[in-house]
Amino acid sequence: MTQRQKRDELLGRGWQRNLEVAVVGLGYWGPNLIRVLAERLDVRLRWLCDADASRLARIARRYPAVRLTTDLDQVLDDPEVDAVLLATPVFTHHELGRRCLEAGKHTYVEKPLASSSELATDLIDLSRESGLQLMCGHTFLYSPAVRAIGDLIREGRLGELYFLSSSRVNLGLHQRDVSVVWDLGPHDFSILLHWLGCMPTTIRATGRDSIVPGIADVAFVTLEFASGLIANVELSWLAPSKLRRTVIAGSRQMVVYEDGSTEAIKIFDSGVDYRDPETFGEYQLSYRSGDIVSPHLPVEEPLALQVEDFLRGIRSDRRSTSQLDLTRDVVRLAEAAEASLQDGGAQILLDGVGAHGRVV
Ligand SMILES: NC(=O)c1ccc[n+]([C@@H]2O[C@H](COP(=O)([O-])OP(=O)(O)OC[C@H]3O[C@@H](n4cnc5c(N)ncnc54)[C@H](O)[C@@H]3O)[C@@H](O)[C@H]2O)c1
Repeated sequence: MTQRQKRDELLGRGWQRNLEVAVVGLGYWGPNLIRVLAERLDVRLRWLCDADASRLARIARRYPAVRLTTDLDQVLDDPEVDAVLLATPVFTHHELGRRCLEAGKHTYVEKPLASSSELATDLIDLSRESGLQLMCGHTFLYSPAVRAIGDLIREGRLGELYFLSSSRVNLGLHQRDVSVVWDLGPHDFSILLHWLGCMPTTIRATGRDSIVPGIADVAFVTLEFASGLIANVELSWLAPSKLRRTVIAGSRQMVVYEDGSTEAIKIFDSGVDYRDPETFGEYQLSYRSGDIVSPHLPVEEPLALQVEDFLRGIRSDRRSTSQLDLTRDVVRLAEAAEASLQDGGAQILLDGVGAHGRVV
């Protein structure tokens, strides 16, 4: 059966048939995808694939009914497989993603989509030409807290956004193939693009390779936007404890977002108002320090929501153009930040445009 016939059959029969899926890459992150898929009643986990046989053996005990292979071709040659989810290292994403799409499989690639914007664009173009789903694992876009803050910004509740400062630090895991900019940066870059709806006009990054020569493990990335908003993102694998904290300072309200905390979002009715001086040098500042509100958020696992969206896209034959644009622009930001890092913090100019506001 051709991919198009399979798709027509799937669409025609609505939700009746289980989707047959494969997960490739069973290192740190892949098992999370497996767990989320294994919990679904509308999916059959058909293959698990890892180039490292010992990883397969370890996980096989928990999923005895699933086929195992170290060779991706076995998965791609199986006509029953509808979709492949890749959780392999960044440098493999383009090659493996391309092979999956060329084999007619809907494809989910862990973040970032590829190791350069040229390669990311190639995958996106291929998915559009083939009519297959392509999704990149920007899990934070499915976080109830990130979505709630996006709504606050879009509704103008924070007023004019002055600046944004984010820390995403922990101890490890050092990646072998990419710097901290490519590993942790995509989380903040995707969140920023989703919240702000456009690319920055400039980006600068400084950092250092404290432990492994040539691979930066700490980076400070500064992004400037056409509105005047400035964002600073601290990324590090070298911190004594895990912290994922973002502060947003707006003219009306301020927000502290701490991922993993019981009160993930705190909205502060705080700020400073400036009154024009009546005489030279006599300007007035009035400080506001009002209520602090922590909104109730639904308890939903972002990864489960994202996987559900991927599967829904396959069944409904709906592709999100803005999601793919955002995915490509995350790679553009990582690429520009890395270029700046390599050039001692040089300012890199970007186009400042985009329409990422409605991603999901
Ligand atoms: N969304 C998130 O929050 C999140 C969190 C962590 C990691 N990730 C992403 O997940 C991906 C994997 O990261 P990780 O930390 O799990 O890496 P990892 O090194 O722990 O695991 C990667 C696995 O892929 C396997 N592999 C490599 N090449 C292969 C090939 N050609 N065929 C089959 N298997 C192959 C390796 O043997 C290894 O088991 C990365 O893209 C990373 O950015 C996402």
